[in-house]
Amino acid sequence: MLHNIDKQKMNQLMDRDKDAKIIINQLLENHNVALSTIAHEIRNPLTLVYSALQVMEIQHPELSTYPHWSQTKSDIEFMCQLLNDLSRYSSGHTLNHSAFSMKDFLKNIAVSFAISLEDSNIEFTSRIDKGLGTFTGDKIKLKEVLLNLLANARDAVQSVHSGDGRGKICLSAHPDIHGIVIECFDNGCGISDDIIDHIFDPFVTHKENGTGLGLAISRQIIESHNGSIQAHSSPETGTTFIIHLAC
Ligand SMILES: Nc1ncnc2c1ncn2[C@@H]1O[C@H](COP(=O)(O)OP(=O)(O)OP(=O)(O)O)[C@@H](O)[C@H]1O
Ligand SMILES: [Mg+2]
Repeated sequence: MLHNIDKQKMNQLMDRDKDAKIIINQLLENHNVALSTIAHEIRNPLTLVYSALQVMEIQHPELSTYPHWSQTKSDIEFMCQLLNDLSRYSSGHTLNHSAFSMKDFLKNIAVSFAISLEDSNIEFTSRIDKGLGTFTGDKIKLKEVLLNLLANARDAVQSVHSGDGRGKICLSAHPDIHGIVIECFDNGCGISDDIIDHIFDPFVTHKENGTGLGLAISRQIIESHNGSIQAHSSPETGTTFIIHLAC
């Protein structure tokens, strides 16, 4: 995987040399196609294996009492998830643009997320400014980013406030002179200084069932929109992710 420093060097090289630019872009495209193809080709037979296990369980219900049965099923589910994430990671820079109302878009996401929290006692608020106007970008991919951030916020809050009723998450958005600022705040476990510099790297996870691709995909999508995403965090106060999108 390429890190930021590699990308900077690559961009400098491409700025200096037009032939290098063409070749590097072609190599990057080939790399992404290869990654998607491999993920896709492995996912297909794996899905068949998972379906076969489900059929076996229906026909032989006693299998579900076998000690390793549910672990085997959840391992396969995890592999399918990882392969899905890998496909999304390799296609994060390919955008399908459309023009849409940013206020309506964010309100819809806030409503869906609020519904998903109904069984928890986490307090979720949203403050979406009415003057956000029309934005042109990839709605599906931007939704993926916000759902990643909100899912991380929910995990972080649940890890410290599980059941105590003090967990808080807030999604807010307002215009600024350059475009739009979107913030996702949570008062969860926070991120310590030694890991904060790596959270956007692929496969960095501190969760038992995490793939560690959520933030890597999110950053790729935001940067493909010529925007930026940053995290500010402390274990005492929690975490705020800030996205800047130019209009
Ligand atoms: N809001 C947050 N509060 C605390 N830690 C966070 C927060 N968001 C991200 N992190 C840290 O950053 C790591 C990487 O997050 P990322 O979303 O990339 O992967 P993940 O959530 O672990 O797995 P997945 O790929 O399933 O999303 C997390 O494992 C967690 O340690
Ligand atoms: Mg995540």
